[in-house]
Amino acid sequence: MFENLAPAKPDLILSIMQQFREDRRANKIDLSVGVYKNAAGGTPIIKAVRDAEARLYESQETKTYLGTTGDAGFNAALTGLVFGADADRSRLSAAQAPGGSGALRMIADLIRAARPEATIHVPDPTWANHIPLLSSAGLTLKSYAYFDAATGAVRFDAMMRDLGAARRGDVILLHGCCHNPTGADLDAAQWKSVGTLLLDRGLLPLVDLAYMGLGVGLEEDAFGVRHLATIAPEMAVAVSCSKNFAVYRDRVGAAIILSATPAQAEIVTGKLGAIARSLWSMPPDHAAAAVRIVLEDNGLRASWKAELDSMRERIQTLRADLALALNRQSNSQAFDFIVKQAGMFSRLPLTEGQAQRLKDQHAVYIVPDGRINVAGLNAENTEVFARAYAQTR
Ligand code: LMR
Repeated sequence: MFENLAPAKPDLILSIMQQFREDRRANKIDLSVGVYKNAAGGTPIIKAVRDAEARLYESQETKTYLGTTGDAGFNAALTGLVFGADADRSRLSAAQAPGGSGALRMIADLIRAARPEATIHVPDPTWANHIPLLSSAGLTLKSYAYFDAATGAVRFDAMMRDLGAARRGDVILLHGCCHNPTGADLDAAQWKSVGTLLLDRGLLPLVDLAYMGLGVGLEEDAFGVRHLATIAPEMAVAVSCSKNFAVYRDRVGAAIILSATPAQAEIVTGKLGAIARSLWSMPPDHAAAAVRIVLEDNGLRASWKAELDSMRERIQTLRADLALALNRQSNSQAFDFIVKQAGMFSRLPLTEGQAQRLKDQHAVYIVPDGRINVAGLNAENTEVFARAYAQTR
């Protein structure tokens, strides 16, 4: 049986993460995997989450099954966080999932069940795992123009042209904020134009919201989702708590679907439960319960928000420092775009050979497409990285 298997191609991002771990050089710099790092290079557990875990440990009396869509309190709290506390919930269905990836897979299965011929249009570029993850559900994927490497911004006219050519009933994947891998986001006016186009053309928005709170601010980062929810009859949102609650390995997220009517929303909720049952039966509970406790408790919520704010502010400072350092090295203003982007990522002009030289000669780990996780920088290594980048060009 298994002799028929060809070896799997290692996942690019995760294999770089592993190579970094195995590198013994003391001065190594990891700008690869999308994980927040503090100034000391660590990824600590957020204090409010730790406190919530302590409460959970004290108060939890059973670990019996909850059900296919997970913790109803978690689903309600996360829906409030994403759509706003006052959002009308009558057309919304939410199902807890193992991370944002689990949510994406549930949504892909839902789309396939509802409209198997639908194509999902993804930005060029998009998160590398979007492609295998969404296509493994049996859906066809197609790219739309998104990033302009020359300016570091969105190719908005080309994007609108491509979206305008999508077939009625197709699905448009949008990154809610902190575009992965480029850091180039839509502004409010662009979200509105995209929303109008999707509505006019009968296209379903699928928003991947994996970095809410790490871009401009918690509310600001939800602008796209909330705007679309006010105008679109239907939409899908894959939410991840991996980064903004720092619960990466515990796998916490949710699929949230907006349906045209409350009656359809009820059917969607049942279908999400059936999909979960066929995929993993029920989602893991622990950190989702901790996230629920944080969101339901005013004190813990304020503490979480303050810590998240400081993480985001650190990233913004690093962006400014990096742009300055790279501009200085290149004696130009060519890297100003880094400051205009949002979230952990930016994409630098880079050849695969340069990525290799950065690793071999300078112990700098970077995804070969030029994506860098800015949070891997700090006051000491930003200049070191800028020099290494300039020397290896
Ligand atoms: C990333 O893009 O680096 C993260 O989302 C981690 C992953 O799973 O790829």
